[in-house]
Amino acid sequence: MSAQNFLHAVSLTDLRAKGCMTVQVDGHTLALFAYANNVYAVDNRCPHMGFPLERGSVQNGLLTCHWHHARFDLASGGAFDLWADDVRAFPVEIRDEAVWVDVTPPADPSGHHRKRLRDGLERDLSLVIAKAAIGLLENGAPAEEPFRVGLEFGARYRQAGWGQGLTMLTCLMNLIPGLSPDDHARALYHGLAAVAVDCDSQPARFTVRPLPSAATDLPTLKRWFQQFVEVRDAEGAERCITSALRAGANHQQVGDMLFAAATDHRYIQIGHVADFTNKALEALDIAGWDATRAEQVLTSLAMSYANANRMEESNAWRHPIDLVAILEAAFEQLPEALNAGRGRAWPGREALTPMLLGDDPHALTDSLLSALRAGCSPVELAGRVAYAAALRLARFHTSNEFGDWDTALHTFTFANAIHHGLRRCPDSVGLIRGVFDAAMSVYLDRFLNVPAARLPEPGDSPSAESTATLLHDLPALLDRQQQVDAAGQAVARYLFRGGEPNTLLALLGRLLLREDRDFHTIQCIEAAIQQYHLLQGTPEAVYMLVAAARYLAAHAPTMRAQGQTYQMAHRLARGERVFE
Ligand code: FES
Repeated sequence: MSAQNFLHAVSLTDLRAKGCMTVQVDGHTLALFAYANNVYAVDNRCPHMGFPLERGSVQNGLLTCHWHHARFDLASGGAFDLWADDVRAFPVEIRDEAVWVDVTPPADPSGHHRKRLRDGLERDLSLVIAKAAIGLLENGAPAEEPFRVGLEFGARYRQAGWGQGLTMLTCLMNLIPGLSPDDHARALYHGLAAVAVDCDSQPARFTVRPLPSAATDLPTLKRWFQQFVEVRDAEGAERCITSALRAGANHQQVGDMLFAAATDHRYIQIGHVADFTNKALEALDIAGWDATRAEQVLTSLAMSYANANRMEESNAWRHPIDLVAILEAAFEQLPEALNAGRGRAWPGREALTPMLLGDDPHALTDSLLSALRAGCSPVELAGRVAYAAALRLARFHTSNEFGDWDTALHTFTFANAIHHGLRRCPDSVGLIRGVFDAAMSVYLDRFLNVPAARLPEPGDSPSAESTATLLHDLPALLDRQQQVDAAGQAVARYLFRGGEPNTLLALLGRLLLREDRDFHTIQCIEAAIQQYHLLQGTPEAVYMLVAAARYLAAHAPTMRAQGQTYQMAHRLARGERVFE
């Protein structure tokens, strides 16, 4: 450090007389300590919650903050209570009986924040994660950079593999382009902290090596993969995934292979496995399909395929009507139906939705097959089913048990995953089976719409109401419990009156992020926004956001404690005084 970076701080005599002083140096408030014949300078704000460290005490070279008793090495600022984070310590020189301090900004702030992000993930320190996310973005890093760190960490340091944390991180990353820039770091914070929670105290995962040579062709590896999943052999399945990637499988081929196993049995693990698969593929689209990363990420799914429960084993899918048998009979007709529909234009889009919401499972599969024969593409059919699943949420009556929101949510996120899987792999037979499974789950959820909540209509809006007022009032609405219908109506009225959709999407994202993170709520909002973009310009798009707003309102307000942590990190990063 060159001498000209040091600035005069205080007289050494004065400091020695007082033992501790605070001084302003070039905009920084420093706590100076004369201790054991040395002088030390640290940022006066405790890195935990900003309590003034000048009011702390020094003993045996340790500075203790009196607020939550975090202890720091006075010389380096290193914390011994890692949740508090390190305090910045400044170089000191004594010149002519005066204390000079160097407050030059750190040479590599991004490097510091990268290291701290890693520390936060390893130790599950949400405050440290929040500061690192804020610091990285403020220093110009794209959101993809911390996302990649979290993705690779989560895929490696959780023996059970891909879980809720990585799903939340990917969902939130998907939301970032539609969020206000002010909310980008907050979205990353929630996602990265969710990964840290998932990995906390978990053993690391060691990946299985690929086959010794890349001679095995992809169809064989896919067949073996399904066979190993069938007998719940996770290691065999993992070796097929990694071998397929080494053999050069692209994202479509590997997607087709993974989705085949996710749909060989009916609605496995109430849809989570298909959703995790879709999110893992999306995560690699964002982070990049680097060979090592793709192996680490995609093999993390193997255990979920092998261990999933299968609806063939569930009472609801077998009695009083054997839905599995109905589906298997329909699957036998798929090749003929697809063949018949090739090259035809499908006219039955609107007519299909009431069939999907009906109460006859035979008629349901017949309608799906008829749509395919009439020229409906599998992707379009999947979109129709995802829309029907969203209507279950948009029409969910609050007289249902609260936990039933998740029943409808699981169907919706599964249907969304199948839809996106087909957009990636349009010829995947497994995914077409998944469309039928999703439709059958929509059928099973029919009791959640009895009675059905009324869908808002364009004429519902009072004439004096402005879109600005609707938008302004929405946050206050979600400050109160039991505002499900009001929230859905507010969103519908806003859109029916021609309100700017992107402003509403950014607000819904902000309202999601101010709550304590809830896996299902994050899944719901993200899936609804994905589906909204695919339907944008149609009246159906409005009901996607009605579904999202109603689900969010049903789960708000939370304690918002995680937002408090983020807010503290934000204030500290801005250099704001907190307690001084
Ligand atoms: S330990 Fe210092 S503010 Fe909490």
